[in-house]
Amino acid sequence: MKQQLQEIQKQALASLSEIRDVRELEALKVEYLGKKGKLTQILKGMGALSAEERPVIGQMANDVRIALEEGIADVRARLEREILNNKLKTEVIDVTIPGRTKPLGKKHPLTSVLDEIKDIFIGMGYEIAEGPEVELDYNNFEALNIPKNHPARDTQDTFYISENVVLRTHTSPVQIRHMQSHNPPIRIICPGRVYRSDTVDATHSPVFHQVEGLVVDKGVTMGDLVGTLQAFAKGIFGENTRIRLRPHHFPFTEPSAEVDVSCWGCGGSGCRICKGEGWVEILGAGMVHPNVLRECGIDPDVYSGFAFGLGIERITMGKYGIDDMRLLFENDMRFLKQF
Ligand code: PHE
Repeated sequence: MKQQLQEIQKQALASLSEIRDVRELEALKVEYLGKKGKLTQILKGMGALSAEERPVIGQMANDVRIALEEGIADVRARLEREILNNKLKTEVIDVTIPGRTKPLGKKHPLTSVLDEIKDIFIGMGYEIAEGPEVELDYNNFEALNIPKNHPARDTQDTFYISENVVLRTHTSPVQIRHMQSHNPPIRIICPGRVYRSDTVDATHSPVFHQVEGLVVDKGVTMGDLVGTLQAFAKGIFGENTRIRLRPHHFPFTEPSAEVDVSCWGCGGSGCRICKGEGWVEILGAGMVHPNVLRECGIDPDVYSGFAFGLGIERITMGKYGIDDMRLLFENDMRFLKQF
């Protein structure tokens, strides 16, 4: 039995030196130390030994078991080290490789300019009001002092949805909605999309954007309007910008004016942008017509107001020197990337 034990130890240690992976190691463990393993088998035969032999052989069997267990533990440690080293080698991360960059989106120039316009007016205490693009004829025309058959309707190239429903031709109907649902003092701007059946060219589009402004309170004057527009023009086009008002006609304001700014290209001396004029028209404005106030339940003997409406496209084209409005709608990345 002694010999057998020595033989088992020799064999096991020899096989251990040839183990290549954990699976083989486990198999070897079972082969010697498992329930039916070679060493266990021997121990089972110990019952047949004499009382003197038993402790001697028992001691020896124990030593063999310890030797095998230690051998197995050593090999396991070696294998684990190998696995780890392998992992470190194959899963190495090169932190110096440049990452995949995601292209960063940017604001559309119309959005940037609208944001600037909003900032300027919010800074002066205005609130933002919005209304629907599909609008009642009443809000778009009638309440704005443009009755059916009024010649001013012709100038607006209206898209009709039905007899009484239109695609709004300007943002002025938002004035009406606001005045009918709010009491003065009122100080709002209304940005939004508007529609006119214009043919597309370098300066026209059937869809474009306006910002309406409306102030109604006691004692509001034309002077307030001029001061407001002056502040706006300086804010958008720079501190040296001047404005001028030319008499005009809108049915919903009286008096009415078209408002020019000194040319951003030449400062007023005349260039290609202003066609030698020194001035560029950017908006329409005036004192809210008493009929409009009255229609909205506001007493024109107590309150007065001014309103203005500007096209965001025209101001954007001016600010950035864009000479064709179509560029603002085509979403050509080569164009948009420049802002
Ligand atoms: N609604 C006018 C237009 O689109 C602009 C405007 C607004 C003029 C407010 C005066 C007052 O043509």
